[in-house]
Amino acid sequence: MLPAFRLDCAWHAGESPNGRFAFALFNLGSEPIVGFQLAYTALTRVIDPAACTDAVFVLRDANYHAYAPPEGFVLAPGAAWRFTVGGLHRPARHCTDGAKSAILTTSDGRHHAVAVSDLLLEGRVSEPPPVLLPEGRLTLPFALQPWPRRIDAVPGDGVLAVLYPGEGAGTDDIRAVHAVLALFQRLFPAGHAPFALGASPQGRPIRFVLDVGLGPEAYALAFSRDGVELRHGGPAGRQYGLTSLAQLLDGARRDPRRFRFPVGGGIEDAPRHGWRGCHLDVSRQFYPLGDVLRLLDILAWFKLNTFHWHLTDDEAWRLEIRRYPELTSVGVLRGPDEPLRPQLGNGAEPMGGFYSQDDVRAAVAHAAMLAIEVVPEIDIPGHNAATLVALRELTDGQEAPDSYHSVQGYANNALNPAIPLTYTFLEAVLDEMAELFPSRYVHIGGDEVADGAWLASPMARALMEREGLAGTFELQSHFLGRVQAMLTARGKVLAGWNEVAHGGGVEAEGTLLMAWEKPEVGIALAREGYDVVMTPGQAYYLDMVQGKEWQEPGASWAGTVPPAHTYGYEAAGDFPAELQDRLKGVQACIWSEHFLSRAYFNRLVFPRLPAIAEAAWTPADAKDWERFCAIVPLAPQL
Ligand code: ACM
Repeated sequence: MLPAFRLDCAWHAGESPNGRFAFALFNLGSEPIVGFQLAYTALTRVIDPAACTDAVFVLRDANYHAYAPPEGFVLAPGAAWRFTVGGLHRPARHCTDGAKSAILTTSDGRHHAVAVSDLLLEGRVSEPPPVLLPEGRLTLPFALQPWPRRIDAVPGDGVLAVLYPGEGAGTDDIRAVHAVLALFQRLFPAGHAPFALGASPQGRPIRFVLDVGLGPEAYALAFSRDGVELRHGGPAGRQYGLTSLAQLLDGARRDPRRFRFPVGGGIEDAPRHGWRGCHLDVSRQFYPLGDVLRLLDILAWFKLNTFHWHLTDDEAWRLEIRRYPELTSVGVLRGPDEPLRPQLGNGAEPMGGFYSQDDVRAAVAHAAMLAIEVVPEIDIPGHNAATLVALRELTDGQEAPDSYHSVQGYANNALNPAIPLTYTFLEAVLDEMAELFPSRYVHIGGDEVADGAWLASPMARALMEREGLAGTFELQSHFLGRVQAMLTARGKVLAGWNEVAHGGGVEAEGTLLMAWEKPEVGIALAREGYDVVMTPGQAYYLDMVQGKEWQEPGASWAGTVPPAHTYGYEAAGDFPAELQDRLKGVQACIWSEHFLSRAYFNRLVFPRLPAIAEAAWTPADAKDWERFCAIVPLAPQL
């Protein structure tokens, strides 16, 4: 049903230090309303409640803002309530910086849907998004992405019918063809199958050769008019070889003017990096299991091998823990009358969503079938607003409320290292995670604990005194050291964000940290003895805007990240030779604050995800932006 209310939102650059929002709430219903409140969610937060006109500030909780009209104001059908809000913590820069959702609450306590749309720019005409992807240019007519290490394949004319396992193929080889064919069919349900299991007179056979001299992820293809030889170093290499064959044939079918299937020559291929990752934040927005499985399929298509599943954050705890069912009842449900207020696009209807342990097992099994390892993240000690609402017993009752705020605007959102129950809780969570996730690594977050966290907690103060710890980050280091020991006891290795190294860090040897704040951080971590995966926001955060223009959607705190920049960024280029061994790979990060729809997801994640996949796989001297642009329109999307 069409909402009876709509909120227009525009931003003026002048006045208040960071400009101000001009709101107009339209009543499109048939009744006048009086004594109501309006709440909206916006990442451009208000920090000066007094800086508003024709409205009364009610409250703010992170991105949730509530206002009331002046006393006695009547909003008649067809009329609008106009008010302005200044005192913003930063200026708006893009069309997605305004209200992401809104809720109207009438005097009888009922909540009503309010439609919202893009933030409009007042004072000048806003620029449309730029063209980000040129048509591109091919030097070889092959639809491979990521591009292989070495290729001297000879293009044929016309397209063969299918490839099929030839004489001598083992059951595992035939199963591998079956699996890559099924992957293709899931990704391209309307595409023509590249493989059949039985021989076809119009097709060509694949001869499988296991060559353990190749690395486990390596493969080589030798083409002739009579068939293809696929040498591989193991199941992953065989899967990648078959994936390349599927891509070659699919490209030749979908755009025969540009792409061909080879009839001679060959390909020798192996990945550049061992860790070829993609992260997904499922806390800020929930992705049903089917979306997660499809994303895994997309990763496999691009030969990515690590799925970093960011399962918890301030907005919701999405992983079922049998010992603490409150985490996925209270800790996920956001609504106007729930303990967790709406955030980031949530509206009048309560919104939840979590992964049952059966869902997790299904995702882990799906990933394993595609040679992808699932690295789960529970983000601790910061980013735990939802956890602490679900489990009040994890807070120090003597800690002053609002004693510190995270950069996302959450008050007192860190697990408290001085509360014994914090460790009881984590022991139980890690026990269940260790059972669910076969991965060697468990990612424990460690990012963005607010400077000043815990200093107003008498229990934390006492612990700091006892242990001789100065300040938030030494206490964080103490806490993470205990978490590392818990992981070791479960045969797991600690992975985290780069701030794990703050305040003394943890035992570095074997620990893997992700450098997100800027590239230089990765080098500093490597010098300290940590293994490093490069995920700099400036190149690899896929929620960042791709252009400076107002109408370009996304976040901009790490700058503007056009696909060409993502593609061209060279993580290894920053590393001195003596530290190269510490660089384990690269990773795309999909943060979900702005991904209110699949359309936004696809618009921001593509083509930058395949760009990172190519950076993860293809040697620097074989990268070619123009070629990438010519091939990437064939990429599957969510
Ligand atoms: C992060 O972006 N806070 C890891």
